[in-house]
Amino acid sequence: MTEISENERWLLSYYRSSEINGALFFGRVARTIRGPLQVEVTHHFADEAAHAKLWTRCLDDLGLLPVKLSDSYQDRYLAAIGAPANLMEVMAITQVFERRVITQYRRHLRHSGTHPAVRQTIERIMEDERWHISYVKEALEGMAGRYGAEEIERTLARFTAADEEVYKGTLAEYGDRMEFLEWQS
Ligand SMILES: [Fe+2]
Ligand SMILES: [Fe+2]
Repeated sequence: MTEISENERWLLSYYRSSEINGALFFGRVARTIRGPLQVEVTHHFADEAAHAKLWTRCLDDLGLLPVKLSDSYQDRYLAAIGAPANLMEVMAITQVFERRVITQYRRHLRHSGTHPAVRQTIERIMEDERWHISYVKEALEGMAGRYGAEEIERTLARFTAADEEVYKGTLAEYGDRMEFLEWQS
């Protein structure tokens, strides 16, 4: 049986807390949103909550307790960009952080030594993450008429820059913990 290292336990705890943050973010959006995206956003909220449940169960099945984390990359990212001004900004914020999440999960899957329970959890979650990326992309494309394609591009570029900055800071602080993800990247 593959042993889970302390760094990997940290990483699984970090995934769990990221999914909780995602659920809390989309829960707030789902509570206030009106109109055509209400169904998708509420579904998205439920998915992120389910992902938090899957990580919590995975850790528990492995006989591990989540590490207590102070603040996550998402907290910092959301703090860096400030409250979204409209639904377009919500979708742009989402596209950038969903990409970050999916990249991390893909990198994790590349490790041949990944425990089967961890692998299964990531693969299950990725099914939903792929849908998140695609509905958000469509939603943003559909908003071009209202907000202007250029404005959407500018917003995405601004949030991507914030994401990279914050992720760099997270790496600087937790580099040892995250080595697992950066390896072979
Ligand atoms: Fe998720
Ligand atoms: Fe997601």
